[in-house]
Amino acid sequence: MNDDKLIIFDTTLRDGEQSPGASMTRDEKVRIAKALERMRVDVIEAGFPIASQGDFEAVQAVAGAVTETTVCGLARALDKDIDRAGEALKPAASSRIHTFIATSPIHMKMKLRMEPDQVITQAVHAVKRARNFTDNIEFSPEDAGRSEIDFLCRVIEAVIDAGATTVNIPDTVGYNLPHQFGELIRTLIERVPNSDKAVFSVHCHNDLGLAVGNSLSAVLNGARQVECTINGLGERAGNAALEEVVMTVQTRQDVFPCRTGLDTTQIVPCSRLVSGITGFAVQPNKAIVGANAFAHESGIHQDGVLKSRETYEIMRAQDVGWSANRIVLGKHSGRNAFRTRLKDLDIEFESEEDLNKAFTRFKDLADKKHEIFDEDLQSLVTESGLEAENDWLKLVALRVCSETGEVPDATVTLWVDGEEQQSAAAGSGPVDAAFKAIEALVNSHTELQLYSVNNITSGTDSQGEVTVRLQRDGHIVNGQGADTDIVIASAKAYVNALNKIIRREERAHPQLGDV
Ligand code: KIV
Ligand code: ZN
Repeated sequence: MNDDKLIIFDTTLRDGEQSPGASMTRDEKVRIAKALERMRVDVIEAGFPIASQGDFEAVQAVAGAVTETTVCGLARALDKDIDRAGEALKPAASSRIHTFIATSPIHMKMKLRMEPDQVITQAVHAVKRARNFTDNIEFSPEDAGRSEIDFLCRVIEAVIDAGATTVNIPDTVGYNLPHQFGELIRTLIERVPNSDKAVFSVHCHNDLGLAVGNSLSAVLNGARQVECTINGLGERAGNAALEEVVMTVQTRQDVFPCRTGLDTTQIVPCSRLVSGITGFAVQPNKAIVGANAFAHESGIHQDGVLKSRETYEIMRAQDVGWSANRIVLGKHSGRNAFRTRLKDLDIEFESEEDLNKAFTRFKDLADKKHEIFDEDLQSLVTESGLEAENDWLKLVALRVCSETGEVPDATVTLWVDGEEQQSAAAGSGPVDAAFKAIEALVNSHTELQLYSVNNITSGTDSQGEVTVRLQRDGHIVNGQGADTDIVIASAKAYVNALNKIIRREERAHPQLGDV
């Protein structure tokens, strides 16, 4: 039995949110945090409180909503960041402050314009300041993967002396190779004299597709915390995928000298929740959580699996939460059944009015689609959260005409800043026509960067979930919409993205800006 604990630190709500277009509202963050708690992750990095008032409130809300899991807030090695993080984390039953400063020659010289000794002084000061709020302090030497080893050892020794309880080694730009990164962790643990006073953690980015490999190599060399995200979401090519790290450690207990405490059956539901909220679809062949991850297409494989599952499967689909779609509700289900099923899914409403709105949507959906699955309910609730009171645009009606040999056209009625307006346009297909009709009213000057449709459940009566990514002046947003009619789902997603562009909320980025 491998008794050593591998701490799982989830940063979907912080580094994951740094994916262009993946920003989440406070309530969405709380829903994801509760799903992570249900999965029993050890630490949730809920955000970067100094970034904006919205980020501060989201960290505060997660801190208040989660009781079993440690909630962490990110702070640069600056007094104002640390104080803001400490303030946001006040409601938490267990809190951690994660402070960082860059240590690679290129970052110190070009970004910070600081001498190495100044960096050490500031790192030590930051850790001491964070101790005013909690004893649970994590320090990261940013871009450690490209830092000089002697300097890294000095910084780490100094921050542990100052009170850091976790030392996180980030491969910020995803440059390392697994054997190198493992070696780095082993060397640091061996050479830093007080290394036994802190947990060594790793935080790997996926620029070369090596984030999970590097994290696992670090674990084999002594790291006992891995920072990761659901579906590998994160800055640029993303972070190490939680599901891959956790299932590798669990499946290869013959190799790994440690275990996680996770309830792995929550992995697929959590993956779906995150992709539904962010609009980042999971590729079908993605390990563990992709739709094809346990599907055997070839006759030889199917035959083998039927005779003995182990011939081609190294994990059981149900161990990661894949279960056959279950019919949970239908046309005749009442408000109580609806409320109870949502409660089972840990979905709560702030007010009776919100519940009523969701129930009305449920009834509308049940009229079109007789069997309502858990996935439909999740999407329905996400949909309810997509419309804000102060939305400038609302989709009132859409009519499309598409016929073989004819140019499709669409007529759209929108609520534009309190006034109903209508327009029509032709397009290369019904979706194109609908978007053009909306644009004729809005004139948004945005560029459509991505359009994707996924079915929420199987069957032709399934709801289509559409993601639309728009870009304007370097600002990127994702919009989502779901409906059994994919043209309507597309129009809803487009309107949702336009509302986000219009509400544009400025946020500071943790790795840019002043120190
Ligand atoms: O990638 C990185 O270096 C980070 C730090 C803030 C830990 O996200
Ligand atoms: Zn990162």
